Amino acid sequence: MERTFAIIKPDAFAAGHAGKILARIYQEGFKVVGLKKLYLSKVEAEGFYYVHRERPFFGELTDFMSSGPCVVMALEADNAIMKWRDLMGATDPAKAAEGTLRREFGTSIGENATHGSDAPETAAFELSYFFAGLELL
Ligand code: TYD
Repeated sequence: MERTFAIIKPDAFAAGHAGKILARIYQEGFKVVGLKKLYLSKVEAEGFYYVHRERPFFGELTDFMSSGPCVVMALEADNAIMKWRDLMGATDPAKAAEGTLRREFGTSIGENATHGSDAPETAAFELSYFFAGLELL
C-alpha cells in the first residue's frame, strides 16, 4: 500500500464539487486516511509550492490556492501516487482525458480542480506539510 497527498482546490470546492470528487475517490478504491478543509494563507501556499518558486506562474498559482477554502487529503491504495494522477488527468483540463477529474471539473490550466503528488519524495513532503502522524492513524 502507498500513500499520496491530494487537494480539492479552491475552484472545485467553491463550485460545490467536493462531494462528487470524494465519491469518485471511494469508487476508484482509495482509502481516505486523512481529510480536512483548510483556508490557506498566501505564505502557506508559497511554502507548499516552494519547488515552483522560480516558475512564471508562481504568483498566480499561490494567489489562487489562497483564494478560498480547499480540502486536503491523504489517500491510500496500491500504487496510490500514479493511480491518483491518472484519475486527475493532465494538468491542462483541455488536454485531460475523458472521465478524468480535471476534464470534468477543471476550467483552465491554473484552475484545474485537483492536486496530486508526483513522486514518493513529494508525497512524503506534502503529507507531512499538512498532516501530523497522529492524524493519519
Ligand atoms: P505542475 O506541477 O506542472 O502540474 P501538476 O499539478 O499536474 O503536477 O504545476 C503545478 C500547478 O501549477 C498546476 O496544477 C497548475 C499550475 N500551473 C499553471 O498555473 N500554469 C502552468 O503553465 C503550469 C505548468 C502549471
